[in-house]
Amino acid sequence: TDGEADPLHRRLAAAERLARMAGTKARSFFLNRDTLHPTSKSDSQDLVSEADRSIEIWLRRMIREQFPDDGIVGEEEAATEGLSGFDWVIDPIDGTMPFLVGQPNWTVSIGIARRGEPAAGVVHAPMLRELYAAATGAGARLNGRPLTMNPDWTVASTTIGFGATQKASPQEAGAFVEALYREGGVLFRVGSGALMLAYVAANRLAGYYDPTLHCWDCWAGIVLVREAGGVVTFEGDLGQPGPIWAGNHRVHGQLRRLSGAAS
Ligand code: IPD
Ligand code: CA
Ligand code: CA
Ligand code: CA
Repeated sequence: TDGEADPLHRRLAAAERLARMAGTKARSFFLNRDTLHPTSKSDSQDLVSEADRSIEIWLRRMIREQFPDDGIVGEEEAATEGLSGFDWVIDPIDGTMPFLVGQPNWTVSIGIARRGEPAAGVVHAPMLRELYAAATGAGARLNGRPLTMNPDWTVASTTIGFGATQKASPQEAGAFVEALYREGGVLFRVGSGALMLAYVAANRLAGYYDPTLHCWDCWAGIVLVREAGGVVTFEGDLGQPGPIWAGNHRVHGQLRRLSGAAS
């Protein structure tokens, strides 16, 4: 039963329930998005609305009720520290831009950190009817089906997710795209880093590179990729954003090289 499950799996089960419920709330905002009045956070493509804020506040309340000793880090509210060694790493809507313009490719992303390390995560894409879940040592699943990454792919095997926003350096973004195309690769982008990482785990992308992500964009996705057999380097942590590379062993190394990172 639930009560007997270990601390990590209790949290994963709760994260799945919360991601489903948050997904239902987000879906009704999405279907009524004409009534939202988004505002800009930094540049013209960095938006936030009542949907993002109210779902994060609701998630935080639910997490505090069920796990009062856990910390919470999320995009729209200040981080709170915990005492249990577990932190929840939440993005109420990853892909605010696709959400606001009516594309279905946005997600609710809920990651779990154990002593500061990625340990479990759920990425729910309500409009795609897909729920990805993983916990360290327990594998990654899409709607209950186990995921295993293709170990033989290279960047030339299929498309590569690239997440650069307007905060990226145009020179570095351009140089990466040029290097990728020279290597036989092709670019893919949707506005949810969490979904692109889930797609890597599900063999829908050969890999993913983003020059700057926050922990809430990628925490759940990192566990998905690793548990599907892939390799991820994230140079950020629970406090600081950083670049991320994900793929099978080969693709991860290729992306590091193509982006100019030290190998
Ligand atoms: C964004 C998405 C996007 C990534 C950005 C993020 P948001 O999150 O994950 O794919 O490239 O860096 O900020 O703001 O839509 O939650
Ligand atoms: Ca945002
Ligand atoms: Ca995000
Ligand atoms: Ca967000």
